[in-house]
Amino acid sequence: MLEKIEQIRAEVQQLTATTPEEAEQHRIKYLSKKGQVTMLMDEFRSVPAEQKRELGKKINELKQFVQDKINSLKEQVATSLTSGPQVDLTRTPYPIPLGTRHPLTIVKNEIVDIFSRLGFTMAEGPEVEDDWHVYSSMNFADDHPARDMQDTFFIEAHPDIILRSHTSSVQSRVMEQSQPPIRVICPGRVYRNEAISARAHCFFHQVEGLYIDKGVSFTDLKQILLLFAQEMFGEKTQIRLRPSYFPFTEPSAEMDISCHLCGGKGCSFCKHTGWVEILGCGMVDPAVLEAGGIDSTQYTGYAFGMGIERITNLKYQVKDLRMFSENDTRFLDEFKSAY
Ligand code: DAH
Repeated sequence: MLEKIEQIRAEVQQLTATTPEEAEQHRIKYLSKKGQVTMLMDEFRSVPAEQKRELGKKINELKQFVQDKINSLKEQVATSLTSGPQVDLTRTPYPIPLGTRHPLTIVKNEIVDIFSRLGFTMAEGPEVEDDWHVYSSMNFADDHPARDMQDTFFIEAHPDIILRSHTSSVQSRVMEQSQPPIRVICPGRVYRNEAISARAHCFFHQVEGLYIDKGVSFTDLKQILLLFAQEMFGEKTQIRLRPSYFPFTEPSAEMDISCHLCGGKGCSFCKHTGWVEILGCGMVDPAVLEAGGIDSTQYTGYAFGMGIERITNLKYQVKDLRMFSENDTRFLDEFKSAY
C-alpha cells in the first residue's frame, strides 16, 4: 500500500491542465467515489491494526496533496482564461490616420458651390472626346493651331478621337441635349501635350460656365463674374476685363482680379501690376449656338472658363504644379483644415 501511495503521489505531482474540463477529469480520476485515492481509503479499512496509524497518516497526507494539486490546477486554468488575451483583436488599430480632400477638389467644390447658389447646375462630359465637340462645334477653323499635334493628344488609331484640351466641349454637349434657358457649370480634367514643369502639366483642370437665355448680355456676365470673384477671394476684390480673342466667343475678354496678396498695391506675386489673370470669357458666338442646335436669332448667352490649378495657386500659393499630381501626403496634409 505504501508503494501505491508513492506511485499516486508521483503521478499527481506531474499533472497538468490547460482547461477546466481537464482539471475536472483529474479530480474524477483521483477523488470521486471510484477515484484512486477514495479506493485507497476503502482498502485502508482492511489494513492490520498495527499499520493503521502510519498508513492512515500517509493516506490523509496524500488526499490533501491531491486536493491541493487539483485545486491549484483549477485555479490556474480559470485565471489564465480571464487574464488571457484581454486585447480585442478585432478592433481597428488606433490612431486611424485621417485622409484629406485634394486641394483641387476643395477649390472645385467651392467654385461649383458658388455658382450653384447663383442658379447654375453641374454638367459633365467625357475626357475622351471627338473633334466636333472640342473644336469644330466651338467654331475653331480647320487649320486652327490648337488642333496641332503640339497641343492635342490624339488617339492614334482614330484621328478624330482626342483627349479634350478644354472643358468648352461640355458646352457643346449641353446645347445638343437641351434648350434654353441653360445655366450650367462644368468642372473636369483636360489634357494638353506640354512638357511637364513647375509651370505646366500635360493634364490639368478647368471649370466652364455657360448661360443661354433670351436677352443675356455682357453686363450679366460681368456681374456674375464680379460676384464670383468676391465670394472666392473676398469682398474687397475688384475685377478688370481686357479684350481678348477666343473662337467660340464674340466679344471675348480675359478677366483679372485685384491681387489679393497686396490688395492691388503691387507685389512680386502680381509682378507689381496689382492684377492677376484668372479666366477667359465672352458672349457665345452665334455660330456656336447654331452648331449646338440653338436659334441664335432668339437667344444669346455668355460663357467663361477658368483653370482650377490657377485659382488654387492664387488661394494657397502652390508654387509647383507638379505637387498636385504627386500624391505626396505631406503636401496633402497641409490642406487638412481647408474644408
Ligand atoms: N476654353 C478656354 C481655354 O481653355 C477657356 C475659355 C475662354 C472658356 C473663354 C470659355 C470662354 O468658355 O468663354 O483656354
